[in-house]
Amino acid sequence: MVQNNHSEDQAKVDKATSISLSSGIHTHAVHTSWALITEQSTYALGVTNEGYILNLHWGPRLLTLDDLPVPLLPPDRSSQDLLANAREEYPGAGGLHYGETAAKVLFADGVRDLDLRYQRFEVEEADACDGLPVLTLFLRDTVYPLLVTLRYQVDTVNDLIIRSATFTNEGSDTIRLERVFSAVWHLPSQYTPRILTTLAGQWSEETRIQRRPITAGTALVESRRGITSLQAAPWFAIEPEHNPFTPAGQHEVYFGALAWSGNWAIRVTGDVNGTTVIAGGISDHDFVWQLGADESFATPDFIAGFAFDGLNGARQRLHRYTRKIVLPQPQAHQPRPVLYNSWEATFFDVHESGQVALAERAARLGVELFVVDDGWFAGRNNDRAGLGDWYADPHKFPQGLGPLVKHVNALGMQFGLWVEPEMVNPDSNLYRAHPDWVYFFPTRPRSLARNQLVLNLGREDVRTYLFETLNRLITQHAIAFLKWDMNRPISEPGWSEYLESGGEAREIWVRHARGVYTLMDALRAHHQDLTIESCSSGGGRADLGILRRTDQVWASDNTHPEARLLIQEGFSLELPARVMESWVTDAGRGEIPLAFRFHVAMLGALGIGGNLLHWSAEELDEAAGWIAAYKTIRPIIQEGDQCWLLSPHATGGALAAVQYTTDDQDEAVVFAFQRSRVFGEPLLPLRLQNLQANARYSIENVTVSLKLNEAKNSAVGPAQSLSGAALMARGLTLPLEHRHAYASCLLKIRRLLP
Ligand code: DGJ
Repeated sequence: MVQNNHSEDQAKVDKATSISLSSGIHTHAVHTSWALITEQSTYALGVTNEGYILNLHWGPRLLTLDDLPVPLLPPDRSSQDLLANAREEYPGAGGLHYGETAAKVLFADGVRDLDLRYQRFEVEEADACDGLPVLTLFLRDTVYPLLVTLRYQVDTVNDLIIRSATFTNEGSDTIRLERVFSAVWHLPSQYTPRILTTLAGQWSEETRIQRRPITAGTALVESRRGITSLQAAPWFAIEPEHNPFTPAGQHEVYFGALAWSGNWAIRVTGDVNGTTVIAGGISDHDFVWQLGADESFATPDFIAGFAFDGLNGARQRLHRYTRKIVLPQPQAHQPRPVLYNSWEATFFDVHESGQVALAERAARLGVELFVVDDGWFAGRNNDRAGLGDWYADPHKFPQGLGPLVKHVNALGMQFGLWVEPEMVNPDSNLYRAHPDWVYFFPTRPRSLARNQLVLNLGREDVRTYLFETLNRLITQHAIAFLKWDMNRPISEPGWSEYLESGGEAREIWVRHARGVYTLMDALRAHHQDLTIESCSSGGGRADLGILRRTDQVWASDNTHPEARLLIQEGFSLELPARVMESWVTDAGRGEIPLAFRFHVAMLGALGIGGNLLHWSAEELDEAAGWIAAYKTIRPIIQEGDQCWLLSPHATGGALAAVQYTTDDQDEAVVFAFQRSRVFGEPLLPLRLQNLQANARYSIENVTVSLKLNEAKNSAVGPAQSLSGAALMARGLTLPLEHRHAYASCLLKIRRLLP
């Protein structure tokens, strides 16, 4: 580890020479500044004489430390705005900080200004958790005993900087934290206007792509619901407005995502000078944290990156980081199994014989994991009762879950179960025993949503109860997979006992999210092979924080293939295919060919959610064929780089095409979808990406032969093979029938040996 600065013999301290910089963290020998170099980008920061830390550059890679500007405050133009354009890395609210701020505190004597100045730094070659290089900067308030450490982890391969901050109270008086964002990011100022892309939605309509120009003022995306939310995803991308007269940097994208599953905020602020500042982290709405003597508060990670190759480049970088660093290991590199889920087939009408019948059909199709959804536990015949009583309903499962689990395992499938641990119905034994375990204000009615209330996971007794209950369930029944649902936001965020004991009830939003993390971490520590799916009325808790302890997410309750394509395109901007559980259900049955429905679901981790007892022999045969085909290409989808070649968002849902490519570019698969071509207009060639220009590739159209009950491959069009250059420059004619509504295809592209 390198500490402090200005010492000649420190391993990684570079002389201010013209030596071309390698990837990693470099420290300037003269100025107190650093360059965080990744394969394609540089993030540089430095300390002014006054002790402010300024961003010096973020964007395309610089070659030498000489290229860094000297860290200086900009000239004061108006005598009142000294720090407004200062590009401060972590501005505290107070003094002349009128722009975006990262932190706001209240000291015990009533002083509300925070004045943070640089103290020292440390560089780690590889941190203990993720094995990435880290720069840590230490700042202190000029008067009060408050230490703030800023952490910059560098994913050199994926051009990402992962930032967080830790506040430590080194004194004896409590300090009230009122805003503790993870990071403030400064984009280079530029004349070309910029476009902000975000993801918004609602139930059954998650991750819809939103695009708007950045102008003077602040765009705010956030959640105040106690969960990540269906309404907005903690992700952004910013690119220049396309303009052929200013071509430089046309496809440069800045993008980022927050690793947090509670209230969050991302603020994107522009001004009349062409600056763009992004600030974000835990939402400061209804947030206060009392930091007692010697206590620390660590923010979640805010991951951001620079891509020179557009939104596809941005998505691929985040995906690789998620697969390699974020997801629980070693599961992250095992294939996600094809699962069956009972929800849409039976809803609450769950009972042993019905589930056995479904399981038998599912096994014949090649399903590997059978999941019983909501409706299996005591008193759960509808959504009005039962949540909290996590034992099998004696009428539905007279001998408990044991016989069903055995049957499922004997059929060669793993067993999975739906739970909603954070919830309780007033009509449950748990609530009758512990009405004080939920969030509530004594003087207000407790607002029901979906007839349920939220358990206070800030309470240790609640967490202990939930751990013991879930641990028992998993152990008793060899449960391999939990679908962990969360179907309503938090309301009446009160916690009287905590308040009475001198606590600050506004901490609950953070304590709840941390409580969920703690519980999941403890269960995973006890059950190494357990996998968890994060669900929240669909994709309401899909983020890089929950994905540190869950293996996949349920992206949406909307399983209609047309809607799903749009939802999945948005989802894929933030999260990779292997975490996106996607089922073929009965939505669209009779209207949309089974092949189309399968192709849409095969874009992620494939599952089946239809009522198989209603499917014809032909449908079952075809389904088995597609499942077999999926298994052969699963590594390419689940581990490969994803590229949306035709955006359904851009085509109004009429056309879509997605390519997945292996790291070595030897293999790729392409899915293409056509809702309709109402005028019979010609289908244009589809240009692929990410191939080796000089290599030749075979192109096969994968279809399913019903008689053989297996996938069949045939060459596409007259050409058996094409060079990578031709596939990328001229493109491929898609085998989609003229005027055919809901036509789709799956193409396998394989490099031929020379
Ligand atoms: C919401 C989920 O998104 C659904 O898939 C299903 O699990 C229901 N909850 C069950 O109540």
